[in-house]
Amino acid sequence: MNIAVYPGSFDPTTNGHLDVIERAAKIVDKLIVGVLINPSKHGLFTVEERVAQLKELTKALPNVEVRSFSGLLVDFARSVDARIVIRGLRAVTDFEYEFQMALTNRSLADEIETLFIPTSAHYMYVSSSMVKEVASFGKSVEGMVPESIQKQMDEKFKKA
Ligand code: PNS
Repeated sequence: MNIAVYPGSFDPTTNGHLDVIERAAKIVDKLIVGVLINPSKHGLFTVEERVAQLKELTKALPNVEVRSFSGLLVDFARSVDARIVIRGLRAVTDFEYEFQMALTNRSLADEIETLFIPTSAHYMYVSSSMVKEVASFGKSVEGMVPESIQKQMDEKFKKA
């Protein structure tokens, strides 16, 4: 059974993330979306909120599971018996960081392979940080994030 982990911050989940999840879920038997618990980074959404959002957004995909993790990605992957790490690639600018991460992970655990999924062309420019910045100025991020995420972001920024 091919088990893969798709790790990230998902703060928030974008349509680009969902595109990668849907496509990865078609090629592996089980996809575990791993939300990083990063105590040194204060996110817009708590890790619990992000996990709940992803669970809701992927509920129609029976082979997708959502969990949080802390520490090293390779340790998390091993703990769930995953041999594959999925990462989405947008533009060439992502490549250097992604390549460095893949090589670091391989040096830590050479049984785990990183697979890159090129994002669909219309999500090439979508990133969580860009989405947050636009939404923080009260502008619509329609088309970049699912509607439910847009609503939750609007609520966060209204309170702030
Ligand atoms: O969505 P992001 O923020 O680009 O995801 C980055 C993530 C969570 C995949 C990466 O930071 C990560 O794997 N962190 C866990 C710590 C780790 O394993 N570090 C060594 C490899 S970079």
